[in-house]
Amino acid sequence: MGSAQEQLRTWWKESSVYQIYPASFQDTTGSGTGDLKGIISRVDYLHGLGVDIVWLSPIFPSPQIDMGYDISDYKSIDPIYGNIGHVDELKDKLHERGMKLVLDLVVNHTSDQHEWFKESRKSKTNPFRDWYIWRPPKYDAQGNRQPPNNWESHFQGSAWEYDQATDEYYLRLFCKEQPDLNWENPAVREAVHDIMRFWLGRGIDGFRMDVINFISKDQRFPDSDKPVMKGYEYYACGPRCHEFLKDLGAILKEYDAFNVGEMPCVDDENEIIKAVGADRGELSMIFYFEHMALDYGPKGKFSPGTWTLANLKTVVNKWQRFMYENNGWNALYLENHDQPRIVSRFAYDEPEHRVASAKLIAVFHAFQAGTPFIYQGQEIGMTNVPKEWPIEEYKDVDCVNHWNSYKDSPDEDLKRLVKAEYQKKSRDNARTPMQWDATPQAGFTTSDKPWMRVNDNYTEVNAASQIDRRRSVYHTYRLVLEKRKQYKDIFVYGSFELIDEPNDKIFAYKRRATSGESALIVCNFSLDTVKWKMDDGPKEVLFTTSDRELSQVSGGELSLAPCEAIALLL
Ligand code: NOJ
Repeated sequence: MGSAQEQLRTWWKESSVYQIYPASFQDTTGSGTGDLKGIISRVDYLHGLGVDIVWLSPIFPSPQIDMGYDISDYKSIDPIYGNIGHVDELKDKLHERGMKLVLDLVVNHTSDQHEWFKESRKSKTNPFRDWYIWRPPKYDAQGNRQPPNNWESHFQGSAWEYDQATDEYYLRLFCKEQPDLNWENPAVREAVHDIMRFWLGRGIDGFRMDVINFISKDQRFPDSDKPVMKGYEYYACGPRCHEFLKDLGAILKEYDAFNVGEMPCVDDENEIIKAVGADRGELSMIFYFEHMALDYGPKGKFSPGTWTLANLKTVVNKWQRFMYENNGWNALYLENHDQPRIVSRFAYDEPEHRVASAKLIAVFHAFQAGTPFIYQGQEIGMTNVPKEWPIEEYKDVDCVNHWNSYKDSPDEDLKRLVKAEYQKKSRDNARTPMQWDATPQAGFTTSDKPWMRVNDNYTEVNAASQIDRRRSVYHTYRLVLEKRKQYKDIFVYGSFELIDEPNDKIFAYKRRATSGESALIVCNFSLDTVKWKMDDGPKEVLFTTSDRELSQVSGGELSLAPCEAIALLL
């Protein structure tokens, strides 16, 4: 177990976060797309769940090529969502209830429709030219024009886009409509600081920072020899990353603002602790990605891979202990708008197992050390899209680009295989509308054409049927979050110890406060009934997914039903 030490105490460690994907949360205009008024109308639902912070995925003006992660103006609101007055109203409503509002800061890149980029691409001498990363072409032996290096985009193909107007390429690690900003230019950094101050000054409580460890690129731009995602080793936590993050950290500190950095493509904990170490002044917490790649195949996300409980244990144990022992902090997430639904991914989404699975995940997730993040719909056990859905229902640019490179293949088996992977891992799985009730379109919209199809299981899986049911998934999340706060010395500030590591069905761990008080969490990830030997005599059942009394767990041996989870005070 990590050495018992006093962890630095702060409000954001004790909080939990709820992520809203605005397009899919609640539509109030009948447009088929969610909006800010819809979010405002659901504040009491969120308050009832017991979350403290609400994070909105981007709501700024955007051509929506990547669902708002391509921003064309950082200081106003996309009319599809409402206006800045609605943001103020939402913030006030949350503040009245002691909750906070966090926005998504996407500043590794902008939209190609941002004024900065429109200027930049005009000429090599434009004052904004150096706000982006432009390089001349290379030519091969046959005289064919080639990109400046072999780096790959996260969404297929080269990371460089040729622009005829000035005969140069610009870097874009994502879509061609998302040019990367040049953070080497002090004017760019100033502009980002200005955006942050604009929103913090308006009373926003902080930011989630998109791919924030990609902002510093190795200025030599060397070719990469990685088998997939070529180039990431030259920009993930690049040469000046921590210098830039320190500047952001200083602003956040002035406002005591919440912040969480998204940090993909880095599994080296020593690199990550530089960004989240309590004494570093950079970020409060980070999203690591190692657990989200457990089911990737050799060719990345859309190639078949199998996860095992043993792998999950290794990754969770690594990050839990590392952050505790090194005074860092984990953002605990199992779902977000880029990931499939966790019940379908790490548990069982068949109707007969779905509820138990979702409750198991809630217990497993929120009692770990870190700030829990719950993605909309996770709290009611929403699942991946049905296997029968045709490819036309998938809207995400990442998936669509991938399919475009396969759809003309004569190999029907290969195409079937690839499509099966979309149903397992495409980002679309998380983006279907929130299932509020059993009325048409799940109560999400009055339109009969929501921007994305509602999951067919909405009559079974919806919030209305769970809010008043004591044994629902919704209530499991509510109670787990409540217990986490009630026993914060254990669950927020305590250490983590993995128990019975070799067991391939049970994920068990202990949390221990510096006072010595501790809790045991036992989660049966299998569909078998499992007998599990317990050493410590428990004092109290903190939470059980199947209504157990203390007398039923004191016998030294626990018999756990399929997908059962239990939390005990020792
Ligand atoms: C990470 C975001 O979460 C994802 O949705 C987006 O596509 C990329 N960054 C690019 O902004």
